[in-house]
Amino acid sequence: MAGLNQILAERLQNAFDSLEPGADPAVRPSNRPGVDFQSNGAMALARRMSAKPGEVAARVVASAQLQGICSAVEATPQGFINLTIEDSFIARLLEEQVSDPRSGVGMVSIPKTVVVDYSSPNVAKEMHAGILRTTIIGDALCRMLTFVGHQVIRENHVGDWGTPFGMLIEHLVDIGEEAGAHELSVGDLDGFYRQARVAFDASDDFQDRSRRRVVMLQSGDPETMRLWRILVEASLVYFEEVYAKLGVLLTRDDVRGESFYNDLLPVVVEELDEDGMLVESDGARCVFLDGYTNREGDPLPLIVQKSDGGYGYAASDLACLRDRFGRLDADLALYVVGSPQAQHFSMCFQAASAAGWIPDGAGAYHVAFGSVLGADRKMFRTRAGDTVKLVDLLDEAVARARASVESKNPALGPDEREAVARMVGIGAVKYADLSTDRIRDYVFDWDRMLAFEGNTAPYLQYARVRCLSIFRRGEIDREPYASGRVPVVVSRPAERALAVVLLGFSEAVEAVLESWSPHKLCTYLFDLAGTYTTFFETCPVLQADSPEERDSRLVLCAATAKVLGRGLEVLGIEAPEQM
Ligand code: ARG
Repeated sequence: MAGLNQILAERLQNAFDSLEPGADPAVRPSNRPGVDFQSNGAMALARRMSAKPGEVAARVVASAQLQGICSAVEATPQGFINLTIEDSFIARLLEEQVSDPRSGVGMVSIPKTVVVDYSSPNVAKEMHAGILRTTIIGDALCRMLTFVGHQVIRENHVGDWGTPFGMLIEHLVDIGEEAGAHELSVGDLDGFYRQARVAFDASDDFQDRSRRRVVMLQSGDPETMRLWRILVEASLVYFEEVYAKLGVLLTRDDVRGESFYNDLLPVVVEELDEDGMLVESDGARCVFLDGYTNREGDPLPLIVQKSDGGYGYAASDLACLRDRFGRLDADLALYVVGSPQAQHFSMCFQAASAAGWIPDGAGAYHVAFGSVLGADRKMFRTRAGDTVKLVDLLDEAVARARASVESKNPALGPDEREAVARMVGIGAVKYADLSTDRIRDYVFDWDRMLAFEGNTAPYLQYARVRCLSIFRRGEIDREPYASGRVPVVVSRPAERALAVVLLGFSEAVEAVLESWSPHKLCTYLFDLAGTYTTFFETCPVLQADSPEERDSRLVLCAATAKVLGRGLEVLGIEAPEQM
């Protein structure tokens, strides 16, 4: 379903086209009183035509077909076109949106195959706060892409290969398989890694064993592979525990670790070599790309094969790109990874394009994000300076939410309280992450994310519960109001404002998928909840003046609950019926 913005833009486009084909009407929401949208396109067009902006705007208005859509259209002398939507048009569109189970969010006409690389923790390393971000953001993007009809392939590019595994396997041998596996699966990943590191630094013999082990691993020695599998398996058990607590879509089937690409590495080298792209530099085989230099201004190599014959992170990402666009036939590959890896991805993408692995019309995109900071604005860590264990963090979120749910609604039964605490606690952690522009750092702050006021999950969840509770209090069946069978009339400014915001839902989802920025949907939902509050405070629903008015307002409540619920759902956040 086209949103208001889009409907106006289309109508104005025809009028702009008659003056200059393709001229952008630049329709934006307006905050002038009594005006809903404005078109800013006449100013730029006037400059190109060397005409007066006010006159160009007036000519656009004269030829635009806006009958039945706008109740007022005004061209200002400065060249703005102010547009006020007809109340009955708003009401009609809202009825249509309410009758749609998807609340007006259409399916894309050309579905794409989209690979989303997210979470991707490292085996035998604690899932740090950055893993929390990629897991939450990547999951929300998967849900939204699926919702609009794309075919999504989730890939968890677990760090399960490379030189540290020599040391990790030797440490496993030393402490015993059972003890080692136990330590990892209960989440003492950092402890395990640190001990291995200490042993490595302390003994030459251990170092030699570790180096030999790497060679054995790379040559596929069965016993070494068996030990390696124990490490991977135990870590995956722990990762899955975190995923279950977090409520994300990732499963065991989505794991495509670095090791998966091992057999492809020689192929990658061979193909790059055939294309004449490999240059030897200090014994390593590298690709040099235009525009990349190091601090000294010298060309920066993308190292594909090291001087000892081993392959690194870049090689496995090149193999991975080749696999995603070749075998998986992806149209788009998204990499939800922290911004420090921006250069790595930009070089890999460019090299893969040059090698012909990314077909025309397809593309790879780095969905970069900033860091999670502690209250001291430094990297988020425990008081002792360790990496925060994600299971502990999520348990604490639920415990804190339990306390606040208990004090807010002591009447909830124990099971329901537990379920609500989980939705609120986990929802709060996810929403705090999703609601900040991903590229920015954010401060992890329990009190702020769990507050029932402000741009938080509990605030939105509670706003939805308030919409629903009107039906409960009035003992009214919600279904007819939530299915478009009841007529809408908007007369009061607060009703009208709420209806206009509701009609912006599909455009908010579109905006997220244009820039891979979930915070745009959060901002929209927060605005919706605020507009609902004003409506609720100024327009009595159950005590309305007439049955028609009451019914129409009940539709507004049901529509708000639907959009809030769906909006949270595509962000990966559950919403309780009561709280
Ligand atoms: N395991 C990596 C890390 O922790 C992230 C992997 C991201 N995905 C990729 N295809 N490189 O830094």
